[in-house]
Amino acid sequence: MITYGQFLKHNFQGCLFVTDQNVGKLYNLHGNDVFVLPNGESAKTLENVGMLCAWFLANKLGKDGHVVAVGGGCVGDTVGFACSVYKRGVKLTHVPTTLVAQVDSSIGGKTAVNLDGVKNAVGSFHRADVFVDTNFLRTLPQQEVQNGLGEVLKYRMLCSEIDDCFVQHGLEKTIPLCVEFKQRVCQKDPYDKSLRQILNAGHTIGHALEILHNVPHGLAVANGLYYETKLALQLGHCWQSFAEKWLEQIANNFAILPLVEGVANLVEQDKKNKLHKIGFVFPTQKGYKKFLISSQKVQQLLHDLA
Ligand SMILES: NC(=O)c1ccc[n+]([C@@H]2O[C@H](COP(=O)([O-])OP(=O)(O)OC[C@H]3O[C@@H](n4cnc5c(N)ncnc54)[C@H](O)[C@@H]3O)[C@@H](O)[C@H]2O)c1
Ligand SMILES: [Zn+2]
Repeated sequence: MITYGQFLKHNFQGCLFVTDQNVGKLYNLHGNDVFVLPNGESAKTLENVGMLCAWFLANKLGKDGHVVAVGGGCVGDTVGFACSVYKRGVKLTHVPTTLVAQVDSSIGGKTAVNLDGVKNAVGSFHRADVFVDTNFLRTLPQQEVQNGLGEVLKYRMLCSEIDDCFVQHGLEKTIPLCVEFKQRVCQKDPYDKSLRQILNAGHTIGHALEILHNVPHGLAVANGLYYETKLALQLGHCWQSFAEKWLEQIANNFAILPLVEGVANLVEQDKKNKLHKIGFVFPTQKGYKKFLISSQKVQQLLHDLA
C-alpha cells in the first residue's frame, strides 16, 4: 500500500523505527524504539543486518510486529533485508526521505546489502508499505536531488504522461506518478523476469560510466539514457524527433560524460546479459523494449559513438 502525507512518528504507535545518523539528527528521531544506522553505503552490511535482528529480538518484536524504515535507499535496502529474514518476515513500512528512495528504491520489494566490495551481493524480495512525505526533500542536499532527477528523467522518457506533469507542474507533483508507474510495473512482474526490465533503461551504459567516471548513480543513468538513445537511433529503433528531443533535454540538464575506453568491457559484465549477448532497453516506436546484442556488435557501435 502506498500512502501520501506528513510523516509523524506518533502515528506509528508500537512500531520499531530504523533510520540513519543524518536523518535521525535532522528529524529528531531518537529513543529506545529507534535504531540508528551509519549514513550511506556503509549501512548496507551483513553485520548491520545481524545487529538489527538482535535489536528486534531484544525489543521483543514478534511475527506480528511492525518496523518503520525512515531514510534513503541505503536504510531501506538494509532494513528491508533484515525484515525479510527476521522470523521469516515481519511487516515493514518504508518512509523514504531521498528523491531516489521516493521514486525508486522504496518501491518494488527488492532488498540488498553489499559483501566483499560487491554491491547488492546479498538480498531478497520483501513486500513493504510505503509512506511518501515529500517534505523530507526540503533538507536534501542539492547533489542528492540531482541524483534522483536522473531516475525521474528515466520515468519521463518511459511515460509521456509523467513528462507532461513534470514540465507543467514540477517535481513534487511528478513524484506520485513515478511511484505509481514503478508500482504498476512491479506488480505485473514482481521478480524481474520481463516487463520490470524496462526500468533498466539507461542502466547498461549508465553502470559502466558510474564505475569508470566514479560519479553519482543518477548522473550516470542520465548519461546512460543519452548514449542508449543515440544507439537506438543508430539502430533504427526510435523516431528521430524522440531522440532529438531527449538528447537536447539531457545535454541541457546534466553534464555529459565522455564514452571513455573501457565502457564496452564493462557493459559485457552487466547482469542483464544472456548467452554472451548484451542486454539494452531501447526506446522504440512502440515503447521501450529489451534487446540482446552481440558483444562484437556492441564494441563496434560504441566505437562509432565515441
Ligand atoms: N531496492 C531497490 O530497488 C533500489 C533501487 C535503487 C537504489 N537502491 C539503493 O539505494 C541506495 C541509494 O539510495 P539513496 O540515493 O537514497 O542514498 P542514501 O540512502 O545513502 O542517502 C543519501 C544521503 O542523504 C542523506 N539523507 C537522507 N534523507 C535525507 C533528508 N531528507 N535530508 C538530508 N539528508 C538526507 C543520507 O543520510 C545520505 O547521506 C543504493 O545503495 C542503491 O543500491 C535500491
Ligand atoms: Zn538506477
